[in-house]
Amino acid sequence: MRKNTIMITGASGEIGHALISSLIEQGAPNILSLDVRPLEIGLNHKITHIQGDICDRSLLERLVSEYEIETIFHLAALLSTRAEFTPEAAHRVNVEGTMGLLQLASNQSEWRGRPVKFIFPSSVAVYGMPSLDVKAQFPKVREWEWNYPRTMYGSNKLYCEMLGIYYSEYYRQLAVERPVMLDFRSVRFPGLISAFTVPSGGTSDYGPEMIHAAAKSEEYACFVREDSQIPFMVMPDAITALLRLAAAPVEKLTRRVYNVTSYSLTAGDFRDLVLKSFAKAQISFHPDLKRNGIVDSWPADMNDNDARRDWGWKPSYDLERSFYEYLFPNIKNRYRI
Ligand SMILES: NC(=O)c1ccc[n+]([C@@H]2O[C@H](COP(=O)([O-])OP(=O)(O)OC[C@H]3O[C@@H](n4cnc5c(N)ncnc54)[C@H](O)[C@@H]3O)[C@@H](O)[C@H]2O)c1
Repeated sequence: MRKNTIMITGASGEIGHALISSLIEQGAPNILSLDVRPLEIGLNHKITHIQGDICDRSLLERLVSEYEIETIFHLAALLSTRAEFTPEAAHRVNVEGTMGLLQLASNQSEWRGRPVKFIFPSSVAVYGMPSLDVKAQFPKVREWEWNYPRTMYGSNKLYCEMLGIYYSEYYRQLAVERPVMLDFRSVRFPGLISAFTVPSGGTSDYGPEMIHAAAKSEEYACFVREDSQIPFMVMPDAITALLRLAAAPVEKLTRRVYNVTSYSLTAGDFRDLVLKSFAKAQISFHPDLKRNGIVDSWPADMNDNDARRDWGWKPSYDLERSFYEYLFPNIKNRYRI
């Protein structure tokens, strides 16, 4: 008998590690993870980890033959900065890789006669504000507004959201019999901040990098202007959002893609908060005009009313709690300050 399994791609990344720990804590019995990198020591004896590429179709076929996959958390991706340096590789992983997994979930849904849940973390990068004036005029964007991404990563995410909707609602729409379709659900995250992992490859990394540098008594040159503003959220809330959306009754959902966020900060606000806890922190601003341009194209904040209404989304960590209960104590502890 094949075991009912939760599959996590990109499991060795920042979100993957935190998600696996939460699922294990909740007692999830069978977790299968897939990543090109090995899993963190400590987690690898608790779940089945496959080191491999999501673009390897024969590997995906083998996994379906061995496991009855009921939920997929598809986290594997090349993030925004990296995707801008290698756009074709980003398209291959972010779009073609996602397409392969959607097909896998689609086939599994038909075999099981029940929809496979496909949980997809999208991003604030799907938005593209044309100018700082427009960004100021529309400070809190709704899901359907300003979907004009300026990056390969943002374009990949927006298209994959649409592919997910297609596979959930319109797949084989001209066939005589409608197949059992998968159940795609997505959250658009703001910049995420973790106390336990140092980010790499994202364009919102300046926030967490500032705190980690201060804790290590290293100087930090921030790559965006002091007034650059985007929304943020801490990692425990990102995990809560993924798990709560996955658990929501399907009849409550009025959309397949939801904004979720906690608070909005300028890079200067970040610096001021860091200085309150690390008085000697040396933070300067040396904007990289190109990377700053990407941050400028993201909205200052996102409206997440629909997530709050439909599936009870509410961040547990407001600004105070995020910095003073979660980030500062844990980051200090990490560097033994
Ligand atoms: N961290 C953020 O601020 C943020 C914000 C919005 C959305 N997201 C999304 O959340 C997801 C996870 O992000 P993260 O912060 O954990 O990123 P991460 O870079 O830490 O993790 C991504 C993981 O994917 C793996 N991976 C990349 N290509 C692969 C491939 N071809 N096959 C298998 N594995 C592959 C990497 O090895 C890595 O472990 C991504 O889809 C990302 O776009 C993250």
